[in-house]
Amino acid sequence: MFRSHHCGALRETHVGTTVQLAGWAAKVRDKGFVLWIDLRDRYGITQLVLDEERCSEKLLEKARNIGRESVVQITGVVVIRESKNPNMATGDIEVLVSDIEVLNQAQTPPFTIEDETDGGDDLRMKYRYLDIRRKPVQNSLLFRSKVGLLVRNFLAAQEFIEVETPYLIKSTPEGARDFVVPSRMNEGQFYALPQSPQTFKQLLMVGGMDKYFQIVKCFRDEDLRADRQPEFTQIDCELSFVHQEDIMQCFEGLVSHLLQEIHGVSTGSFPVISYDDAIKKYGNDKPDIRFGMTFTELNSLAQNKGFQVFDAQELVVGIAVPNAASWSRKQIDAWVNWVKRPQVGANGLVWVKCNEDGTYKSSVDKFFDADALSKWAEACDAKAGDLILVMAGNATQTRTQLSALRMALAEELGLRKPDEFAPLWIVDFPLFEKDEETGALHAMHHPFTAPKPEHLEKLESDPTAVIAQAYDLVLNGNEIGGGSIRIHDRITQEKMLSLLGFSEEEAKAQFGFLMDAFRYGAPPHGGIALGFDRLVAILDGKETIRDYIAFPKNNSGRDVMIDAPAPLDTDQLDELALIVKPKPE
Ligand code: AMO
Repeated sequence: MFRSHHCGALRETHVGTTVQLAGWAAKVRDKGFVLWIDLRDRYGITQLVLDEERCSEKLLEKARNIGRESVVQITGVVVIRESKNPNMATGDIEVLVSDIEVLNQAQTPPFTIEDETDGGDDLRMKYRYLDIRRKPVQNSLLFRSKVGLLVRNFLAAQEFIEVETPYLIKSTPEGARDFVVPSRMNEGQFYALPQSPQTFKQLLMVGGMDKYFQIVKCFRDEDLRADRQPEFTQIDCELSFVHQEDIMQCFEGLVSHLLQEIHGVSTGSFPVISYDDAIKKYGNDKPDIRFGMTFTELNSLAQNKGFQVFDAQELVVGIAVPNAASWSRKQIDAWVNWVKRPQVGANGLVWVKCNEDGTYKSSVDKFFDADALSKWAEACDAKAGDLILVMAGNATQTRTQLSALRMALAEELGLRKPDEFAPLWIVDFPLFEKDEETGALHAMHHPFTAPKPEHLEKLESDPTAVIAQAYDLVLNGNEIGGGSIRIHDRITQEKMLSLLGFSEEEAKAQFGFLMDAFRYGAPPHGGIALGFDRLVAILDGKETIRDYIAFPKNNSGRDVMIDAPAPLDTDQLDELALIVKPKPE
């Protein structure tokens, strides 16, 4: 037996038992006549003790030479601790060592393996295997594993079956660039790694699988952020013979189940907000609804009153910041400057203090009297003590800018509480987005999304007015999932691809297999994919998905531990029939 117990297992009830433990020497404290070692494994830390009175000099000497993070195996007897540590699960006992074996002496690690480490981000990523020994990282990975198991059990209980789909495929358009893999056996040809298993899960429905799921890696070559990795994991699902509401109900059930099991939180049914309303009320399609500060359009109250900054603009829109009327001019000016930064790009902010005594003070007192300002306050639902902030400009830009301000204010005011969960659905997305410069249509979700049946007629006559049978699941201001009812007839799919600018030949070359499948009895179907990394992070009260991925990439898409991507040697390039042009000097 290598070990009789884990390092987190021993309690007072074990006193007198002879045990074998194995783990890492997290700390060695040598007082000369007595020496303690904190032995760590995934399950916890157990204090080992050796002293002159009870141990041989040889054993003490051996223990003294154990370097931090060395791997050791010990035999000893559990004894009660003189000074107990209530902060440790094993804090009532220690193990008096009778034998010790160093299984692997370690070099001094480049950073301390503790909850609060002295290692910077880059160093920790380079030595990620050491970082993983730290409790916070272990906890994140354990949490991810727990959520994965809950998801699998929930879906299995609903008769979903897990099917694996291939990674070496042809491009599946999800709006990002593909990672490609050259084929040695088919010279000059390439596989694409899946941006999602979208077409395969649809083919599984044609194959009669009825309810499919997969916790699956997806690959997207896109700009990286805290909530984006080039390879990430989806809980990917597809169902046959369903309407949009059936899918929403099923996955609302899944997320509610997770919140209940993990946090004991019961959310009730999720609000459903249309895309248009979300944009108008929150300035984006993934609103954080844990707090208010919803947008109020003030065009009718604020325009044509002599204040030219507002008059010529498409939109005048405001929010009421709770209890901020007491802010100093300096504080308000800091926010005015914040919105003017290039990252936000607003022209400025108009502010109105709704004072506790019922008076108003604003940056536009010259143009608007108390009566006018009280109307703004009423429209914005601002209470005495609140501060109204107003922006004006092009509708789309202004909404985006005010949305950025709303989120930053909420962060500053502590309104984005990590232990509060506010899920919602966004529905009624437009089927297409129009590229303003080229006039080209892009699929807002992906080219397989079905229009609302009553909008089918408008596909050709007024495509941008067509609403999709698509839905996004949002949690705490993050898009954690998206899906749609799919087109399941060939004619509509062909029309859709043609509207997206595919010629008949291109459509056939890229999606012929799917359109062919639709000739052989495709059932009505639809599905959803949840971003597993995002879901896990948010359920744990965080937003950076990197912490929940064992071996993540950095913001340049590099794995700094294994140093990838890396050049290939000429032989390999030759074998793959790839020629890499030298970069110009
Ligand atoms: P979509 O592209 O919306 O839909 O992706 C689904 C969810 O995956 C997560 N996600 C990401 N997470 C981390 N890093 C990324 N780079 C990344 N990109 C996306 C998001 C997102 O909501 N095939 C469709 C689903 C369907 O229609 O069924 C799809 O992939 O949380």
